[in-house]
Amino acid sequence: MRIAAVVPAAGRGERLGPGGPKALRELSGVPILVHAVRAVAASRSVELVVVAAPPDGVSLVASLLADHDVPAELTVVAGGATRQDSVRRAVASLPPEFTGVLVHDAARPLVPVELVDAVAAALRGGAEAVIPALPVTDTVKQVDDGVVVATPDRAGLVAVQTPQGFSRAVLEKAHAAATDSATTDAAATDDAGLVERIGIAVRTVPGSEEAFKVTRPLDLVFAEAILARRRA
Ligand code: C5P
Repeated sequence: MRIAAVVPAAGRGERLGPGGPKALRELSGVPILVHAVRAVAASRSVELVVVAAPPDGVSLVASLLADHDVPAELTVVAGGATRQDSVRRAVASLPPEFTGVLVHDAARPLVPVELVDAVAAALRGGAEAVIPALPVTDTVKQVDDGVVVATPDRAGLVAVQTPQGFSRAVLEKAHAAATDSATTDAAATDDAGLVERIGIAVRTVPGSEEAFKVTRPLDLVFAEAILARRRA
């Protein structure tokens, strides 16, 4: 199976505060997107990386990646209005020989190569959909208008990360089904959610604390600290 990585990087990243698209913000002087692309490209399983850039920033992102040393076969396509749209466009651009796809958020720059390898290995082992998952440490409540309506049993909950790995045929089918029912279904926040809706089993592998998503200002501090520890 030949595996490509798709990196959606077209989000605005407003929760991170002012300062432009999140993927282009820097961590230790290197754009978050460059860290993320290097991280997936470090896996020997990944032969091609396709980045979905903000639609008005394709040439900017392409030149940024060219300016940094990224040891990967790389293309940049225009993303869309939603994450789902960005992933769909990037997958559509893959050459037909790529029958396995890893979808990795640009906003998870520090994913360890061992996790990328584990997801790729599960795909090669026959899984149609595989995602990294970690136990939830906070108690999670369901609320309605600020009032708690339920407390799901924490023991049965996990928080999920990327890269999420899929057989390409399954991923394309899931995205096509979601596009057809876009007016009735809530927006999915990950690709596995779309795959679940078409009745395909999604397997989990143990996630990594370092694969966290850079979302809020404190996450930048945390990420810088991890990079400093890796350099030490
Ligand atoms: O918004 P969220 O943090 O869930 O975004 C996850 C990833 O999806 C980020 O890497 C972001 O750049 C990407 N994204 C995208 N296109 C959008 C919205 C988000 O590629 N329209």
